[in-house]
Amino acid sequence: MIVFKPARPLSMHLTKEINSGKKAGFVPTMGALHEGHISLIRASVQLNDLTICSIFINPTQFNNNDDFQNYPVTIAQDIEKLEAAGCDILFLPPVQEIYRDGFKAKHYELGLIEQKMEGEHRPGHFQGVCQVVDRLLDIVHASQLFLGQKDFQQCIVIRKLLELTGRNETLEMVMMPTIRENDGLAMSSRNVRLNEKERVLSTAIFHALSHIKQGFATISPEALKQAAKIYLESKGFAPDYVEILSAKTLETPGNNNEQQVALIAATVGTTRLIDNMVLN
Ligand code: PAF
Repeated sequence: MIVFKPARPLSMHLTKEINSGKKAGFVPTMGALHEGHISLIRASVQLNDLTICSIFINPTQFNNNDDFQNYPVTIAQDIEKLEAAGCDILFLPPVQEIYRDGFKAKHYELGLIEQKMEGEHRPGHFQGVCQVVDRLLDIVHASQLFLGQKDFQQCIVIRKLLELTGRNETLEMVMMPTIRENDGLAMSSRNVRLNEKERVLSTAIFHALSHIKQGFATISPEALKQAAKIYLESKGFAPDYVEILSAKTLETPGNNNEQQVALIAATVGTTRLIDNMVLN
């Protein structure tokens, strides 16, 4: 695996490879890689001639400085995992390569999607995600972009970003299924922050989503959401939201034929977890 830190040589390298007929897949990450990330790398390796992974802890998407400062960093292990999964290129930029001197933040017209759920509870988060992904895609020329379903709202936001920037004409977004621990907890870099007791309790989110899925055909969404909140609270969680929305738009579904997704964000101790499940 080749590691690039500056952006220009990476772009030049990729232009050469792509001009010689190679197809490239890109997996953007913030590191602390787990099986969820590695499943994206494997999918890209299978579908492309060249796989590029970026590791960059993007300061502009954190609305909570403690979360940013304490974000896990495990570069040596990440490199081992990427090599074992067959990743060809790692882009590991310092902040100045992404946000150059004189960098002016663009505003992305994301509409209502950035005002709900993660957008409401993490103001500015999705503008930060769009800034970094837009910049990364300027540098990393690829024809497929791999993202995890675990961050469902982020996938919908990035799909919108691709439309807004016209990149959707040459870049396909591939959303890969959430990878779970054996007991159902969705894999996340933040899971390492859970203490032993919280780790046991943390399966409540998966159970709440599974109950919603079981009841989806017969029980009203309002009753399902209410029951999920009560259940989460009984397990020591403070839920930020429990939503059942259209999987395509993340708006209130028009009818039950539309594909729908249940989404939860809840905090146990000091760790905020998110998860979701497609219902039909
Ligand atoms: O999902 C993440 O890890 C990040 O939000 C992303 C897409 C790499 C942008 O920093």
